Amino acid sequence: MFVTSKFGKVNGELAKKLFEARSVTLLSKKQFSQKDVNVDQFFKFYNESGKCEDRYKPLKDRDYDRFLSTRASRREPSLTRQMTSLAYKVGKDMISLAEGMPNEQVFPYKRLALDTRFSSLVLEGKELAAALQYLPSQGLPALLSELRKFQSEAHRPPELPRDILVTNGSQHGIYQCVELLLEPGDPVLTSEFAYTGFHGALRPYQPEILGIPEDKDGMLPETLDSVLADRLRRGLKMPKMLYITPTGSNPTGTVLPEDRRRRIYELACKYDFLIVEDDPYIFLNYSDHNVPSFLSMDTCGRVLRLDSVSKVVSAGLRGAWITAPKPLLERLELHSQVELLHSCTLSQAILLELVKNRKSFASHLTFARDFYKQRRDALHSALNPLQRLAPFEYPTAGLYFWLRVNGVDDVYNMVFHTAFERGLMLVPGQAFLYDTSAPCPYLRLTFSKIRLEDMDAAVSTLADVIRYEQQRAEQKQKRVATEG
Ligand SMILES: Cc1ncc(COP(=O)(O)O)c(C=O)c1O
Repeated sequence: MFVTSKFGKVNGELAKKLFEARSVTLLSKKQFSQKDVNVDQFFKFYNESGKCEDRYKPLKDRDYDRFLSTRASRREPSLTRQMTSLAYKVGKDMISLAEGMPNEQVFPYKRLALDTRFSSLVLEGKELAAALQYLPSQGLPALLSELRKFQSEAHRPPELPRDILVTNGSQHGIYQCVELLLEPGDPVLTSEFAYTGFHGALRPYQPEILGIPEDKDGMLPETLDSVLADRLRRGLKMPKMLYITPTGSNPTGTVLPEDRRRRIYELACKYDFLIVEDDPYIFLNYSDHNVPSFLSMDTCGRVLRLDSVSKVVSAGLRGAWITAPKPLLERLELHSQVELLHSCTLSQAILLELVKNRKSFASHLTFARDFYKQRRDALHSALNPLQRLAPFEYPTAGLYFWLRVNGVDDVYNMVFHTAFERGLMLVPGQAFLYDTSAPCPYLRLTFSKIRLEDMDAAVSTLADVIRYEQQRAEQKQKRVATEG
């Protein structure tokens, strides 16, 4: 996207080489030893003694109308989709001339066996046929039941009418939330640097971005409060939505502590906005200290929580779900009805098997966390000598280091020319700004796929590249000074 045509060819060749050099390391069953994990503690994202917000009343059904976009409020149920849901509810005694489902007897598949490192999933006969058939838009009923159980055990959200919709990855959930809530030109609250997929979903709406700065612990509630107070005072349109990645933010790697979450939740009640909690790195918290989720403190029905197993199980499975207040969830389901009918049934059957076996799931997630932790530590050791060239915080969750390059106002040239020509791929910080053309001194480094043995070489090249760019910037400054 950023590559100029002059460098297009060179970059193409380099990219090919880089791709070929990449070796995929798959672990054998032997290398994966199933750990004995305390499942209740592992999946505990609430604080039973945390103070819940009780000054504000829960939103009622009709209160949600004011948050809905015109598009979302115009959606109507699809009759045929309702028939599919009915068909799943009534059981098999009913004679049906109604459904437009294909007959399973034409499906060519007979058996599906999927071995994991810890178990085997075998689907055949009726089970396999069901895993290849149409579904109600909300999701595979057995998976929905399991996820409802999982969410209430893991987050213990305050008693309010909520439900779950299975989505095609969290990106799908983000897109749906944006469509659900936003009008063109609306103000939107987010962190100063945020996940590019969120910005992408926003662009057609040309929103007013209210990017709240972060420190090493994530979004600053005081700044959020003062931005909102100022808007209120000036009679400006107030935002209806805050998007936040509370654990291992992409790109900054921050983990928002519990007190900040509570403070931000209180601000949502005070200034009347909803929180879209996008938390795909929740299982990659290396500190062993789970932080209560926004969902766990949602006494007023203001949280739409997005979960995904992309980073820890499989990205291609698109295994994800939204947990939201019922009136909003019903609208999201109407969106799914016409957008894709439903998320892939087979993926949902695989996800069900995974979530159902809590112990194996926890054990696998521990493995994934340990695997990435080792890489985080290795890259950290390699990067440490660079602190003076490009300071960074030690990420306690997620997959990213966020470096601020000293003496370079904009890393664009550094990423796409200097580093690329030396065979090093990086992401420039502006990729995480809404305005990607703005100059930016930050770099995001990911440790998920780089081989451990390549880390030192990568960091050594990075150091050379930074020094080169710093010299370039210095020379430019001198030129400007003499010309002036
Ligand atoms: C913060 C954040 N949200 C959502 C996604 C997309 O995840 P999924 O694969 O579940 O769509 C990513 C992927 O990088 C991400 O970093």
